[in-house]
Amino acid sequence: MRKATPEDLMFLFNLKNEKVVLQWSFDQNPVDLETHKKWFAKKISDPLTALYIVENDGQAIGQVRFDVGPDNSAVISIDISSAYRGKGYGTEAIKESLDVLFQSHPEVKTVNSFIFLANTASQRAFTKAGFGRAVVLPDHPDRVQMAYERSS
Ligand SMILES: CC(C)(COP(=O)(O)OP(=O)(O)OC[C@H]1O[C@@H](n2cnc3c(N)ncnc32)[C@H](O)[C@@H]1OP(=O)(O)O)[C@@H](O)C(=O)NCCC(=O)NCCS
Repeated sequence: MRKATPEDLMFLFNLKNEKVVLQWSFDQNPVDLETHKKWFAKKISDPLTALYIVENDGQAIGQVRFDVGPDNSAVISIDISSAYRGKGYGTEAIKESLDVLFQSHPEVKTVNSFIFLANTASQRAFTKAGFGRAVVLPDHPDRVQMAYERSS
């Protein structure tokens, strides 16, 4: 795992537009390159965003992003490229990225994940990485929230 760099622009663009990644995104519209460029430039320079690239043998296979909020909490999102799903990389990436986040943002105590209720693979990966039980969101019954409380 490493921090994202400007060279990751196209990897993240292609990952974001993968069919299953869009299917499990809350905004399911494909993203055009210009919109992505603006989003990426903003995120990569934002001190409240931590954007990591998941690697396997030096090759980018996924991303983990944390958006840090004002209340000692952060929101995590993760995507693994289609060819590498279901092999344990997602679970490992969540665990590893939490360690890295807590070093760079020691103020963060709680990490929240918001997931479609039907996305069982994602909920399973977060459960295995130590997140608490999934709670259905009252305003969006098709979605759940899972939380990780930092122990020390
Ligand atoms: C969700 C995601 C990040 C999980 O990463 P992953 O590397 O595929 O997950 P893992 O290999 O660590 O597997 C985690 C668990 O989910 C299970 N799983 C994997 N794919 C599954 C699927 N399609 N359906 C049901 N369970 C699945 C695995 O079997 C494993 O559970 P087990 O150990 O009890 O068998 C990845 O699948 C992904 O990027 N999916 C598309 C985008 C997405 O959903 N992002 C998250 C939005 S909240």
